[in-house]
Amino acid sequence: MRVPRAVAAAGGLPILAGCRYAQSPLDPSADQAGHLYGLLQLMLWICGPMYLLVLGFLGWAIWRARRRLMPEPEPGAETGLKLSLGIWAGIIVVGLTVLTVGSFLVDRSLAEAAARERLLVRVTGQQWWWRIAYRLPGAQTWVETANELHLPAGQTARIELGSTDVIHSFWVPNVAGKTDVIPGHANVQDITPRRQGWFRGQCAEFCGLQHAHMSLDVRVESPAAFQAWLQAQAQAARTPTDPVAARGMQVAASGACASCHVIRGTSASGRAGPDLTHLASRRSIAAGLMPFSRGAVQGWIAQPAALKPGTNMPAVSLSPSDADAVGQYLASLK
Ligand code: CUA
Repeated sequence: MRVPRAVAAAGGLPILAGCRYAQSPLDPSADQAGHLYGLLQLMLWICGPMYLLVLGFLGWAIWRARRRLMPEPEPGAETGLKLSLGIWAGIIVVGLTVLTVGSFLVDRSLAEAAARERLLVRVTGQQWWWRIAYRLPGAQTWVETANELHLPAGQTARIELGSTDVIHSFWVPNVAGKTDVIPGHANVQDITPRRQGWFRGQCAEFCGLQHAHMSLDVRVESPAAFQAWLQAQAQAARTPTDPVAARGMQVAASGACASCHVIRGTSASGRAGPDLTHLASRRSIAAGLMPFSRGAVQGWIAQPAALKPGTNMPAVSLSPSDADAVGQYLASLK
C-alpha cells in the first residue's frame, strides 16, 4: 500500500514526506515498518479529508449564522437534511470499515513473519543499556554483545525481549513498531529488514533517570557480512602483544572491571554490565551516549556519573598509567 511521495507531499504531508533518517517510522527499511507505514498513510488519507470536511461544514455554518442567512425552513428542507445525514453516515461507515480491514490485514502481515525460519536474538533491557545475545545456528550456545544489534538483510530475525528491572520499550522505528520490554514476561518481535545501513533504536518507555540515554545502534548488512560479524563476535578476546595493552588486560581482568564485565578469554566474568569482549568493534559506548574512541572510554571509566548521572557504573579510580593501559587494552578489543 504505497502512496507516491509527491502525492503525499501534495496531500498536506510536506514535512512527513521529506523525512529520511536513521530513526524514523516514515522511512521504513523492513517489511514490518513498511506495513505500519502503509496503515499510517491509509489512516491519514481517510481521516484527513473527513477532518477537512467537518471543518468546512463548521466554517460554512458559522458564516451562515453571522450573515443571518438562516431563512425559515422551506418545504422539503427536511428531506434534504435527512439525505445529507444519510450520505454522511455512509461515508463514516465506509471509512471505518476500510480502516478496520486495513488494520486487520496489516496485523496478518506482521504475523506472517512468525512462520518463517528465523534467527533468534535475545534483547534484554537494563537500566540503561541493552544486553544482546545471538544463538549460533545449530548450536545451543549464545554469543553476547551489547547496545549494537546486527541483522542480516532479507532474513527474518525473531527478537525475544526481556527486562531485568523495570519496563522498557524496544523501538527501532525504521524496522518495526514499539514492543514493551517487561520483567518476567517475554515479548517477541519479528523483523525482516530489507535495506542495509545504520539505524537507531531508542527505549520508548520512561524507565528512570537515563531513559533518554538508552539507545541502540542497529546495523542491517548482507547475510555474508552478518555471518562474518557473528563469527568474529563469537571469538574470545585477543591477547594483546603490545606491553602497555597487556598490562591493561591484567588491570581490567583482575580489578574492579572484572566484577561487573565479561571479557571472554580472560578471568573477567562479571554479569552486571555489558560484555566487553569486542567493545572496540562497536560504534558507540554507554548505550549510544558517545561515539566509541579510546578517549571516550577512558573518560567514561573515570567519571561515569558526570557523563550519565544515575548510571550503575561506578567510577573506577586508576593511577594515570593504569588508566592509560586499560584504555589501550579496551581500544584493542575489536
Ligand atoms: Cu529503558 Cu526507557
